[in-house]
Amino acid sequence: MLRISVEEFSIWKKKQLSKGGDQQSFAVLLDCIGGISTSDLQLISINPEGNLHLKQDLEFLESIWNEHLLKSCPIQYLCGITFWRDLKLKVSNKVLIPRPETELIIDIVCNLFKKKSDKLIFAELGTGSGAISIALALAYPFSEGVATDIDQDALEIATKNYLNSSKQSNLKFYCGNWWSPLESFKGKLDLAISNPPYIPKDTYEKLPKEVKNFEPKVALFGGEDGLKHIREIIQKAPLFLKEKGWLILENHFDQGETVKQLLIKNKFTSIEIVNDLSGIGRFTIGKI
Ligand SMILES: C[S@@+](CC[C@H](N)C(=O)[O-])C[C@H]1O[C@@H](n2cnc3c(N)ncnc32)[C@H](O)[C@@H]1O
Repeated sequence: MLRISVEEFSIWKKKQLSKGGDQQSFAVLLDCIGGISTSDLQLISINPEGNLHLKQDLEFLESIWNEHLLKSCPIQYLCGITFWRDLKLKVSNKVLIPRPETELIIDIVCNLFKKKSDKLIFAELGTGSGAISIALALAYPFSEGVATDIDQDALEIATKNYLNSSKQSNLKFYCGNWWSPLESFKGKLDLAISNPPYIPKDTYEKLPKEVKNFEPKVALFGGEDGLKHIREIIQKAPLFLKEKGWLILENHFDQGETVKQLLIKNKFTSIEIVNDLSGIGRFTIGKI
């Protein structure tokens, strides 16, 4: 640990932020590499005379910050870590950085299934870093979860994240195209969740470079109209869900109404478009 005065640290921090970037990314760098958490930072303002203990020196932290600014590489990839709900997850450029808005999926599930002792059988299609499935497996300790992805590298990261986050063994990982690894779960699922790739072609081409140049295309690109994967997931969902089983999908900001129509066409009921915290119809849910 390296001791540094709060005064020296504050001057250094101001200089780094004056070069560009945002507070949130800087906080990730300080926490993941520097060992200074957000609550440590709050204490600084209360005790400006004190000292801080850093895991890495300021020069090293500055070199990562400079690389982030120069290449527009997401700080989470440079640090290899991200925070999502109360989880600390490994990430690499093989997985999408789980977004804050996706955190709401867990609250939607908790509203639908109120008893934490429920023996839910759930599947997450396209798990990436494993964020959603791990949070659910922890929230419902008696559940049996399966998380799938087409990318074996992503599944390796998700498996590591699960082992780091949980002492339980109620989550399994399978590789394959959407429903194909789940044949043995036909008619058995209480719940299926997916945040599939849903960005339409035109929008994908215009994504900010920190997304387009670094995050996996397979995690983002949803075909010409963005709905290629959502259609496939909805069409086969009734085969895998139990009677009264729920499907929860994340979609692009303007896809809610179309996803709702797809659910109606495939005999879902109790369909609802759920807004994210910015008031955007980000999730569409339905019961079979
Ligand atoms: C938008 S990311 C979501 C990742 C994670 N669930 C999250 O919310 O952060 C979509 C995920 O779907 C996976 N995927 C893409 N095409 C797939 C397919 N045909 N079958 C299964 N998974 C697929 C990607 O590899 C990626 O991990």
